[in-house]
Amino acid sequence: MKRREFFKNLAHGLFSFFGVGLIVYPILRFLSHAKETIKTVIFHPSETLLKINYKQGVYLKRKENGSEAISAKCTHLGCTVAYNERKSEFHCPCHGSIYDKNGKRLSGPAKKSLSLLPVRKEKNGDLIITLKE
Ligand code: FES
Repeated sequence: MKRREFFKNLAHGLFSFFGVGLIVYPILRFLSHAKETIKTVIFHPSETLLKINYKQGVYLKRKENGSEAISAKCTHLGCTVAYNERKSEFHCPCHGSIYDKNGKRLSGPAKKSLSLLPVRKEKNGDLIITLKE
């Protein structure tokens, strides 16, 4: 094999390798993001006494007839919102979206309200919240 032919084959191989990589990499990346994980958050009875409590991405609100769970994940780009007790609102620290105390969108770049999450009560009083990430 001549030197010129060797470099030609090398260049062809490199272009092919990176060309395939340019196509395959985004597909693999998309598939890995498409995989959703299910997370369970447990609030023990003593943790349900507060008006609102936060744990692992979930706000648990005490209501007259039980509890309501709200995802703390901002619907804009996924930052964790903080509860502002004085204003009874959820504020996103990233781009300023604001949600009311029930998670309803009030302002900011987010277009949707915070997600309400199903709450299941165990016999021992634990509240089980399941969320998809
Ligand atoms: S991530 Fe919350 S406003 Fe952008």
